Amino acid sequence: MTQSPTPIHDVVREHYADRIKSNASCCGPSDCCSADSNLYPADLLATLPEGETAVSYGCGDPITLAALQPGQTVLDLGSGAGLDCFFAAKKVGETGKVIGVDMTPEMIERARSSAKRLNLTNVEFRQGFLEELPVESDTVDVIISNCVINLSPDKGKVFSEAFRVLKPGGKLAVSDIVTDGPLPDAIKQSLSAWAGCVAGAVEAEDYIGMMRSVGFGDISISPVFFDKEDVDSALAEMKDAVELKTISRDDVYKAVYSAKITAYKPS
Ligand SMILES: C[S@@+](CC[C@H](N)C(=O)[O-])C[C@H]1O[C@@H](n2cnc3c(N)ncnc32)[C@H](O)[C@@H]1O
Repeated sequence: MTQSPTPIHDVVREHYADRIKSNASCCGPSDCCSADSNLYPADLLATLPEGETAVSYGCGDPITLAALQPGQTVLDLGSGAGLDCFFAAKKVGETGKVIGVDMTPEMIERARSSAKRLNLTNVEFRQGFLEELPVESDTVDVIISNCVINLSPDKGKVFSEAFRVLKPGGKLAVSDIVTDGPLPDAIKQSLSAWAGCVAGAVEAEDYIGMMRSVGFGDISISPVFFDKEDVDSALAEMKDAVELKTISRDDVYKAVYSAKITAYKPS
């Protein structure tokens, strides 16, 4: 890894290392997103043993969005404890392959031990940064990602790396947090709000613009939901943002939402 971690990488890595070490299962309110495994349809959940779907920090269901096929090579950006990789491994089968990349060693360790327990031989986890993917160019059929790209301090680099590793015609299927309009400064300046998947979120139009500028085409973005109670709890946890007390939470409710996003590398 030659990418140097920025202070944002450090804060985000520590946040998620703490989450996994404290065994915080699913996406709790003090975490990023509002989702838990109820996000996924029952038939998808049923592909993994009961109890194996609890540790999720996601904000959507990129697996359904990706419409994976047997034999495909899939890359998960910010794979966390591995849940989406495990679903993907079941979808692509023994002739396919899944690679999860994450910068947090504790996440990689947890994902590897779960994969072993689940006896999944077609999935591997690589420690690295999304801004410098440890993946060969033009080798991936589908990239998935669940509530991660908003956390990067250099989203343009993440999209250019995603574009590089996709095969021509390859698909990007992402669940992520975006905003409708600018966030209040007090939020933008809060590092804990960044780690909680709020402050790093950008306007949907800018998100699309970044994808388009590295070459992605046929881009689609549509809102899923954002649960008010979860935003409330997340904001309450942002202890370094004392100024938050002075802003209207409605501004945040209105501005931040989970979206499903697809795009393609031209053939
Ligand atoms: C909100 S969690 C989502 C994890 C997983 N996708 C899920 O749905 O459970 C964000 C994950 O992305 C990783 N991450 C954040 N920024 C990253 C970056 N720039 N490079 C690599 N990993 C990153 C974190 O370590 C963390 O595991």
